Amino acid sequence: MKTKWTAERIKGLKGNAKVVCLTAYDFTTARHLDAAGLHMALVGDSLANTMLGYSTTLPVTMEQMLHHTAAVARGITGAMVVADMPFMSYQVSTEQALANAGRFLKEAGADGVKIEGGAFRGDMISQLIQNGIPVLGHIGLTPQSIRQFGGYKVQGKKETDAERLLADALALEEAGVFALVIECVPAALGKVITDSVRIPTIGIGAGPHCDGQVLVTHDLLGLSGNTVPKFVKRYADLGDRMVQAFTTYKQDVEKGSFPSDEHCY
Ligand code: KIV
Repeated sequence: MKTKWTAERIKGLKGNAKVVCLTAYDFTTARHLDAAGLHMALVGDSLANTMLGYSTTLPVTMEQMLHHTAAVARGITGAMVVADMPFMSYQVSTEQALANAGRFLKEAGADGVKIEGGAFRGDMISQLIQNGIPVLGHIGLTPQSIRQFGGYKVQGKKETDAERLLADALALEEAGVFALVIECVPAALGKVITDSVRIPTIGIGAGPHCDGQVLVTHDLLGLSGNTVPKFVKRYADLGDRMVQAFTTYKQDVEKGSFPSDEHCY
């Protein structure tokens, strides 16, 4: 019987071991991720891109996120399941954020939620935490602000921006987040932030000094085509393997070699 990874246990990894996290959006992927012993399954709002074909994360709804989070939770026994709060599910008011975050725990079986944004989210985040909802912070390139950023660009290159991101990290730590995703910042800034906070930092394009790493599973498996960000390492070419398998199946059916005797009753 596995001991489930919780916010407190993940916090305890700081300085002791790396936090290893991937996204998952469905039951089957969740089972495989869990079998590999990862600490956290993030039901990222990147499912808007990977599963639903949108070009940004903005359109994904609460109902879609709940649906996918519940599927992931059914496939997991060990990893912590964190659901991404979608665009406009927490921005309007603390009451709205509490009600929607609560739904992920009550209805979908998540163990916590992730929220994008820095110091200005501190009060709302601490309300969630005081009400029993573990929160994972997310700073740097926060994709829900893509219209504000004007593109997927490295953040924190200018000194003033780097200082603001450090201040954001400290404010989120103060608000009580159990860990902090840092996306797409120079590796040196990833290190400064990691050295300055007592909670684990989980980098995605934030260099090797972060306390842990997260990637979008479709990118790592080679299911996202060839236009992936520089920070992605491809660990498999499942996209090519799928096309090969589908092509062979098509050929077999067309020439009548499938089904053969062994597949018949
Ligand atoms: O939605 C997402 O996949 C994320 C990343 C941090 C991986 O937020």
